[in-house]
Amino acid sequence: MVFILCLTNLRLVVDAVCLFSLKNERLTCWVFFFFLVHQQYHFINKSLTWYEAQSFCRLKYTDLATINNMDDENRLINTLGSNVTSSWIGLYNGQTNRWLWSDGSGIASFTQWSPDEPNNSGGNESCGEMYDNGLWNDASCEFAMAYVCNQTALLPC
Ligand SMILES: *[C@@H]1O[C@H](CO)[C@@H](O)[C@H](O)[C@H]1NC(C)=O
Ligand SMILES: *[C@@H]1O[C@H](CO)[C@@H](O)[C@H](O)[C@H]1NC(C)=O
Ligand SMILES: *[C@@H]1O[C@H](CO)[C@@H](O)[C@H](O)[C@H]1NC(C)=O
Ligand SMILES: *[C@@H]1O[C@H](CO)[C@@H](O)[C@H](O)[C@H]1NC(C)=O
Ligand SMILES: *[C@@H]1O[C@H](CO)[C@@H](O)[C@H](O)[C@H]1NC(C)=O
Repeated sequence: MVFILCLTNLRLVVDAVCLFSLKNERLTCWVFFFFLVHQQYHFINKSLTWYEAQSFCRLKYTDLATINNMDDENRLINTLGSNVTSSWIGLYNGQTNRWLWSDGSGIASFTQWSPDEPNNSGGNESCGEMYDNGLWNDASCEFAMAYVCNQTALLPC
């Protein structure tokens, strides 16, 4: 399994390259260590505010969930628990009125907003939640709800 992932999702397999020099009869080798960057979402069914959830995710995993494409979106939907209508993801509205990812990867270019969202209802909806149907909504960061963390691990190939 890890081997297959390594082939398709390769970042770095231990590899050695050796060169033999005829001039001074010396063998020089370089060893490279390759790792698989493994991303995993963790759904946590405890109600916290967005900032509390962010702190927990940073402490226990890597950060709140980032979603960059449809593959991520589907993977995350599959981790959501049943009977939970909304979960925090790592989306927040920065000072510049742009939606950013908590992990520092910048502006959210892939989005899956629910129709007519984000609408900043009440003027204080600066955090992003995911409904159980997978669509996103802006909500007050003070709400307490379940959340999804993102874990980045380096696995040796
Ligand atoms: C999450 O918690 C809620 C409320 O406590 C509960 O109704 C629900 O069954 C739980 N879902 C999962 C997947 O644990
Ligand atoms: C979801 O709710 C239903 C109905 O209340 C319950 O039977 C089921 O066990 C719950 N599922 C989880 C994972 O808690
Ligand atoms: C804005 O979206 C919220 C859901 O976050 C919804 O309840 C509300 O009715 C919407 N408000 C307006 C003015 O569209
Ligand atoms: C945000 O707005 C909602 C709805 O207007 C309100 O209930 C809540 O207290 C507000 N939260 C803060 C932190 O201002
Ligand atoms: C979180 O997950 C996404 C998608 O799986 C990934 O692109 C991103 O780099 C991850 N961020 C962190 C901080 O782990």
